[in-house]
Amino acid sequence: MIYSRIVATGSYLPPRRLTNADLAAELAAKGVETSDEWIVERTGIRARHFAEPEVTSSALAFEAAHQALSAANLQAADIDLIIVATSTPDMVFPSTATILQNKLGITNGCPAFDVQAVCSGFVYALTVADSLIKTGTARRALVVGTEVFSRILDFKDRTTCVLFGDGAGAVILEASQEPGILASSLHADGRHAGILCTPGTVAGGSVLGDPTLKMDGPAVFKLAVGVLEAAARSALAKAGKTDADIDWLIPHQANIRIMQSTAKKLKMPLEKLIVTVDQHGNTSAASIPLALDSAVRAGKVKRGDTLMLEGVGGGFTWGAVLVQY
Ligand code: UT7
Repeated sequence: MIYSRIVATGSYLPPRRLTNADLAAELAAKGVETSDEWIVERTGIRARHFAEPEVTSSALAFEAAHQALSAANLQAADIDLIIVATSTPDMVFPSTATILQNKLGITNGCPAFDVQAVCSGFVYALTVADSLIKTGTARRALVVGTEVFSRILDFKDRTTCVLFGDGAGAVILEASQEPGILASSLHADGRHAGILCTPGTVAGGSVLGDPTLKMDGPAVFKLAVGVLEAAARSALAKAGKTDADIDWLIPHQANIRIMQSTAKKLKMPLEKLIVTVDQHGNTSAASIPLALDSAVRAGKVKRGDTLMLEGVGGGFTWGAVLVQY
């Protein structure tokens, strides 16, 4: 039996960092009222990073991938599969993954494609990469979550524009005799597509419909809190583990209240919850690999630890991946 395991992580945040106070001041100039107090109390967010206008998802992904490759002591040419999770691709096509492949100078013809599952994108992409390694299609995958959500925000809508940020996280997943990805549980329910979407599209040479993010926050909140525990328990059951086996909970970083509620349901002390939402905001598909990399680099997550990665977001999509790091 071939398994896959994470051999290295990397991440990148664009340098421009805005605290809640910085953002509130920028929004006030546009007649939009918000405050540090409201944002912290309702979401746990204190700051986020925004990419400069010319910086694309593939540019952030390149930096994160480079860091992961360095951590693994590998060359880009050693990669034989690239999967990028993003909802803010560089272009309509080609995929951000092929653009990244070119930026990394990978000319070995390896498959490269994007996965679109919004904030669940990274757990979807990791599961696809794990499956392709288990079937022998690939031996060493680069799996990236990367976003420039600042591009699709409506800065006149205070209910959404204070929540999101830009960034990228990456892992290298390698074929192994020992299990690394222990189990996955992925889900979607398209009936709820309308509660979190960016409905615009490109047609006839122009943008058709509204290309900015729309969210019914309370509806998303309610669904998210309801589905995450079940996905985690399903992944645990598949791996023959219980919640007591989880060393670290690394959920999608959207709202500290959702994250803490999931930890509570899994009977995990809050010290075992990895939190970066305070510093990154919601970076959609990038949030889990960004949180994982920051926990690895902070020396919290160690080799052999059992990690529960969990994503939830637009689609409506959700999923969990249980990892032995
Ligand atoms: O990444 C995918 C997953 N996404 C999520 O998980 C997001 C899930 N949803 C949430 O995190 C929360 O629903 C929000 C943080 C988006 C909103 O928090 P809430 O506690 O559900 O607030 P609310 O939408 O019910 O709004 C409460 C009040 C409203 O005022 P009234 O109607 O009570 O007078 C809003 O107008 O807060 C007001 N409000 C704000 N006030 C200051 C909304 N946004 C802001 C703001 N600053 N930025």
